[in-house]
Amino acid sequence: MERLQKVIAASGISSRRKAEELILNGKVKVNGEVIRELGTKVSEKDRIEVNNKPIEKEVKEYYLLNKPRGVVTTTSDDKQRKTVIDLIQTTARIYPVGRLDYDTTGALILTNDGEFANIIMHPASEIGKTYVAKLKGIIKGEQINKLKDGIELDGVIVKASRVKLKKVDSKTSSCMVEITIHEGKNHQVKRMFESVGFLVDKLKRERIGIFDLKNLQSGEYRKLTPKEVAVIYSLKK
Ligand code: URA
Repeated sequence: MERLQKVIAASGISSRRKAEELILNGKVKVNGEVIRELGTKVSEKDRIEVNNKPIEKEVKEYYLLNKPRGVVTTTSDDKQRKTVIDLIQTTARIYPVGRLDYDTTGALILTNDGEFANIIMHPASEIGKTYVAKLKGIIKGEQINKLKDGIELDGVIVKASRVKLKKVDSKTSSCMVEITIHEGKNHQVKRMFESVGFLVDKLKRERIGIFDLKNLQSGEYRKLTPKEVAVIYSLKK
């Protein structure tokens, strides 16, 4: 279910603000009835008309991108930096699901399907996100256990469901750690490592649930298959 003004705007006939005006002015019908209530929720099945003409529904698109370093995870950037949207060839109004930092690389999903995005983001869907972090220093078992037992961020406890030390380089005093989390808090992985005393030097998201980076080089992307989209919808609570 999505807000009526958002669906009207997504069909390309107006901005969201103009869509709100159209609703307030009684120009919008849902299933033949005038709706003046802003924020009314509609689904795929509802028939929406503006000025007595049915709106064209935007076709849903789903992408998996291997985000390179030095690209912002937004739809537009006031500093004119390259955004993840610039990397994908489409006219659909897609947006990123969650965020990877400017210097973080790896798996990022983009779509114009709000419901799909919500399922991926919602902790109840229990979709694990797996990262590989290069840390300054060498982590010990005790610190790994702390990450698994839970760490307080923004007043809530977040836990890594899996932490695995992959590689130790004693010459440069650094290590590679694989970590799986289920939430998507801002800078979550970096903050979790910082809270046990480590700075993250490099960070890559290797997997989001069933989606890994197989066959995708940095900057490359692919469309999700209808079967993959269905798998995510099956996780809806
Ligand atoms: N956690 C971080 O700290 N940064 C990211 O980009 C993603 C997760």
